[in-house]
Amino acid sequence: MIDISSLSVLYQRKNLSVTALDNISIHIGRGEIYTFIGPSGCGKSTLLHVLSGIIREYSGTALIDGAPIDPKKQRIGLVLQNYGLLPWKTVLKNCLLGIKIKDRAASLDDYGDFITKELGINQLLDRYPGEISGGQKQRVAIARAFILRPDLLLMDEPFSALDAITREEMQELFLNIWKSNQVTTVFITHSVDEALYLGSKIVVFSKAPGRILDIIKNPCFMSEDVRNHKNYYEMARRLRDYLRQAG
Ligand SMILES: Nc1ncnc2c1ncn2[C@@H]1O[C@H](COP(=O)(O)OP(=O)(O)O)[C@@H](O)[C@H]1O
Ligand SMILES: [Mg+2]
Repeated sequence: MIDISSLSVLYQRKNLSVTALDNISIHIGRGEIYTFIGPSGCGKSTLLHVLSGIIREYSGTALIDGAPIDPKKQRIGLVLQNYGLLPWKTVLKNCLLGIKIKDRAASLDDYGDFITKELGINQLLDRYPGEISGGQKQRVAIARAFILRPDLLLMDEPFSALDAITREEMQELFLNIWKSNQVTTVFITHSVDEALYLGSKIVVFSKAPGRILDIIKNPCFMSEDVRNHKNYYEMARRLRDYLRQAG
């Protein structure tokens, strides 16, 4: 699905030069959720910007299904921490933004109905973003990404602004919807618990400039009760040790 090889990103302006990613290589298989964890400033968002086609200047290669990244050709869903909703459009129109770019006449089909119901926003479709809560806005952003039926779903710390209870609720909802379509997902987080709760594989980044320290298959993934899984504590300790080294 995704093949990244010797990827380095350098931000360069007049008297500023920052290496954000340093020689990253990773293969991401179809239908998996990769959680990426690492200290602040290590280049996680930069990597997501490369995968979404926002950053085009880099060295090395980044391919989706063997082709260069092109958001016009590939369906890429993006969910950011600050929701990215348009305040002058209703919740319904915000949900349809992604697919309207491809198909102007698009409306909420059965699948879209399923998603908005699952996320509990089907009663809010006529409201504007200014008339709903932060947690509800995050649900709309997630609905929009899933309704696009993306080949690749990119999430940049989407739940970190939410309170603890809403966050756990959103993590569960996200997994429920993910089960229905198993879209390949790159999910960035700085929470060890979230990395373990959501990731089939966990990628650990070093401190800046970001390198990959380890890629770990998560034995707790999709188990009945993740946080009480017999390997949870051991895995959490391993990740915390890495972050301590890295930070
Ligand atoms: N547009 C930019 N111009 C210059 N430097 C940037 C830009 N965006 C990010 N950086 C720098 O690149 C590094 C990685 O940033 P980022 O990818 O946002 O890290 P993370 O998401 O892991 O916190 C940081 O040192 C950051 O200051
Ligand atoms: Mg970031």
